[in-house]
Amino acid sequence: MKKFLFVDCCIRGEESRTKELAGCLVDGLENRQGIELETVRLMECDLKPLDAGDVKLRNELIASGCFENPFFDLTRQFASADAIIIAAPFWDFSFPSLLRVYLERMCVSGMTFHYNEKGETVGDCRASRMVYVTTRGGYTGVMPAGYPDLAGEYMRALCQMLGIGRFDCLSAEGLDIYGNDAGAILNTAKERAACLLEELLHTFENV
Ligand SMILES: Cc1cc2nc3c(=O)[nH]c(=O)nc-3n(C[C@H](O)[C@H](O)[C@H](O)COP(=O)(O)O)c2cc1C
Repeated sequence: MKKFLFVDCCIRGEESRTKELAGCLVDGLENRQGIELETVRLMECDLKPLDAGDVKLRNELIASGCFENPFFDLTRQFASADAIIIAAPFWDFSFPSLLRVYLERMCVSGMTFHYNEKGETVGDCRASRMVYVTTRGGYTGVMPAGYPDLAGEYMRALCQMLGIGRFDCLSAEGLDIYGNDAGAILNTAKERAACLLEELLHTFENV
């Protein structure tokens, strides 16, 4: 059984176009033989940024190797997935802070990565794939015509650090630009999602 983890940070819920696009992947993963789909809805997780007390507890737990502690529940779930799909809208060049607060809990030394003798990070996550799904109101590129895509860059670096071999970004952009046909743009992205789903199924159903 291969475990897919769907991290849903589509703040606008059923109104969200990012969620609609991500649905083309996750709906296709449901009820597939050999695939188990787990969803974590960040909007329902009561996540808060780490405060001083959290950091102290976290350091103590890491030092004593208590990785089974409930403090690390979300981290364990993330670390044990075979593939991860994260969906979040493009906000302020990046993603909503809620996702940042979630990811802040994923880089745990001794659990999702460790340092080698050269002081380099070595990823310890089980996942071999991460797909990041996003939609953007404008375009990525160089300002003022486009926005820097700090979200994609962040996710790619995170994958590298945590040992997740392949990163894909599925996106639709220009959805809020006056005169653009947002429905048509989204449909084109959905076609890419269908191809990506087939490729993911091919990869994971045959192993
Ligand atoms: C708080 C906020 C910040 C945003 N920042 C950007 C931005 O920096 N660049 C951009 O192109 N669009 C930006 N947008 C527009 C969204 O990326 C766009 O509407 C996206 O499709 C929303 O996804 P959703 O339908 O899943 O909520 C922003 C929207 C919101 C609500």
